[in-house]
Amino acid sequence: MKVKKLAYALGAEVLDVDMTRPLAAGAVAEIRAAWMEHLVVVIRGQDITPEQHIAFSRNFGELELHHNKYNRHADFPELYVVTNKPLDGRPSDTRNVGRQWHSDGAYKLVPSLGSLLYSREIPPVGGDTLFTNMYMAYDTLSPAMQAVLLQLSAINDRGVATNNEHVDASRVAERVKAAPPVVNPVVRTHPETGRKALYVSPNVTTCIEGMTRAESRSLLAFLFEHSVRQEFIFRHHWQVHDMVMWDNRCTMHMAPADYDLTQPRYMVRTTIAGTPLGRLYEGK
Ligand code: SIN
Repeated sequence: MKVKKLAYALGAEVLDVDMTRPLAAGAVAEIRAAWMEHLVVVIRGQDITPEQHIAFSRNFGELELHHNKYNRHADFPELYVVTNKPLDGRPSDTRNVGRQWHSDGAYKLVPSLGSLLYSREIPPVGGDTLFTNMYMAYDTLSPAMQAVLLQLSAINDRGVATNNEHVDASRVAERVKAAPPVVNPVVRTHPETGRKALYVSPNVTTCIEGMTRAESRSLLAFLFEHSVRQEFIFRHHWQVHDMVMWDNRCTMHMAPADYDLTQPRYMVRTTIAGTPLGRLYEGK
């Protein structure tokens, strides 16, 4: 298996993988090692079935079902459908998913470990996904700022994500009920690499616990801006049948609307379950 770096900060292509067949344990270990080193792994040219997508993903952990049942694939609930194509005759709830930087499941008590997004249809140009390296975001802060952040926790609330604007209010209420606000550390230590990563997400992080809104707003604005400095970013230009897997514990991603929205974009994602991190938020 060859591994080819795709950007300075993160992202590598792994070659010589065939997802139509079960992978040997050695191959899984090689992909996992590349994943831990490069945070985002791209595997191109995989013409696979939903069953094969699911089977490949299970090599990396247990799969979670997306908490929003409306976005699950009708026949394969492990698949979360991200598309601008109407589903069942109504506009897709996921047509504007991911417009803000985020880490999947950062608003849950058990945030998602990783995500594996597969492209079935992509527009002729654009429809990219961007990733940022949150280890780098942490490592490049001053020691004084790092020491402050290590003491802090933040409130993450699914109810504030901008994608909610494109979803029926009743469905947003269902989501927030299923995943009420949580308190998570602002810096998390990756359980596999032992490295520290900044862990605040512009789409859901509303406040630093214990600070006033004004104090918190300034600090979060700085952290959000710092996290997505150009030199921390890898931008993926999709081809049909790409599989891209990312580690939510040390990256954020976003999908800008950088394409003609009348052109179909149809992606399916599996999500690897993580381990408990924070606690429920009990304030108002
Ligand atoms: C997501 O945020 O999981 C979707 C990213 C994308 O559609 O490229």
